Amino acid sequence: MKVRIERGGISTNPEILRQAAKGGLLSAKLLPRRVHNSSLSTRLGTTELIANPSVRLVRARQASYNAYTPDAWGIDLVRTLITGGAGFIGSHLCERFLELGHEVICVDNLITGSLANLETFRNHERFSFIRHDISHPLEIDGPIDYILHFASPASPVDYLQYPIQTLKVGSLGTHNTLGLAKAKKARFLLASTSEVYGDPAVHPQTEDYWGHVNPVGYRGCYDEAKRFSEALVMAYHRTHGIDTRIVRIFNTYGPRMRLDDGRVLPNFMGQALRGEPLTVYGEGKQTRSFCYVSDLVAGIEKLLFVENYHEPVNLGNPDEVTILEFAQEILALAGSSSKIDYRPLPQDDPRQRKPDITRARQLLGWEPQVSRREGLQRTLAYFQAKIAQQSPSVANPEKK
Ligand SMILES: NC(=O)c1ccc[n+]([C@@H]2O[C@H](COP(=O)([O-])OP(=O)(O)OC[C@H]3O[C@@H](n4cnc5c(N)ncnc54)[C@H](O)[C@@H]3O)[C@@H](O)[C@H]2O)c1
Repeated sequence: MKVRIERGGISTNPEILRQAAKGGLLSAKLLPRRVHNSSLSTRLGTTELIANPSVRLVRARQASYNAYTPDAWGIDLVRTLITGGAGFIGSHLCERFLELGHEVICVDNLITGSLANLETFRNHERFSFIRHDISHPLEIDGPIDYILHFASPASPVDYLQYPIQTLKVGSLGTHNTLGLAKAKKARFLLASTSEVYGDPAVHPQTEDYWGHVNPVGYRGCYDEAKRFSEALVMAYHRTHGIDTRIVRIFNTYGPRMRLDDGRVLPNFMGQALRGEPLTVYGEGKQTRSFCYVSDLVAGIEKLLFVENYHEPVNLGNPDEVTILEFAQEILALAGSSSKIDYRPLPQDDPRQRKPDITRARQLLGWEPQVSRREGLQRTLAYFQAKIAQQSPSVANPEKK
């Protein structure tokens, strides 16, 4: 039997609901939050309610009384709103939640993102794009189940160019999206960052470490915006009972990064592919750890669906490397003979960065799967293709 799912479609037919449950279309995870009807689980058998968070059960309203009828149930697609969805990480999240069967609403003002990142799923029937600056309030019709707040300039080049917009989206944007979560009774996930640890005095960084941040330095606009947004999320959770999650993301890389976003990896890859010297700050002894984007997205998904956990969770790859070693790895992968160009260290540049992911391991059973070599190869292939579109001879330096 084919089960037709449509927005707001309802059914009191137990057979339709049973089939939907067998097909994994009903979500046991959503049941406790959305509906309380013991007769429903008896009718379907709780084991049949497969944990697939793509569809929610809705209570049907009797049109004539506009009142809930205990035995009428509908099935409706889960709706997920992603701010910053046209950015690097946001676009991978949109793609993943479409794969899960959600209806995805992407909200982005394109300050650092691009519609090109949405190309492969822009016309998907369950996808919609709203161009909007989330530092201004946003009203959305209908239910929303999940809000993932990823909007913010994220690379140093971007937030130094847009310091006020960065502070506004971290404060006002977080306030607006939390207001929406409150109105819609949606679960809320904040994209925070390892930058809340600043130039850390504790290594590797655990979530209990409060950080070492210069609020009035150049990076303060980003670091303090994220620290404020974490505080706001916890205040909404404690005051209004919003079901919140906080992910502290460590350096993540992969396709759809911008070559000119100023982060170390696109810098190095762009320079290697163009045959230019690689810019290394200081002696290159500072360390970073790099997480491939599909690993990060898998961790975010797990954190979003884990029950009753509201403290921050680090997600990143603990495989630490010095910047100089990293530059050499990229040169080798790209087959480039570019030299290293040493420049003075910028202000407040963290000396070392490595996540302690014990919490994510224990809570989510998560750890990164993609090795640095594999991730770098995939990303290099992406940048090669990008550069080839612009200038065919540069992408394949050996063919010059
Ligand atoms: N990439 C990383 O390594 C990393 C590390 C830590 C945290 N993060 C966080 O993850 C999120 C996404 O980062 P990214 O690397 O994908 O950056 P990105 O710049 O590619 O994406 C950010 C997106 O947010 C949008 N945006 C910014 N301000 C907005 C506003 N006021 N209203 C609507 N949209 C707005 C931008 O246009 C862009 O599409 C950010 O919140 C960032 O702080 C990223």
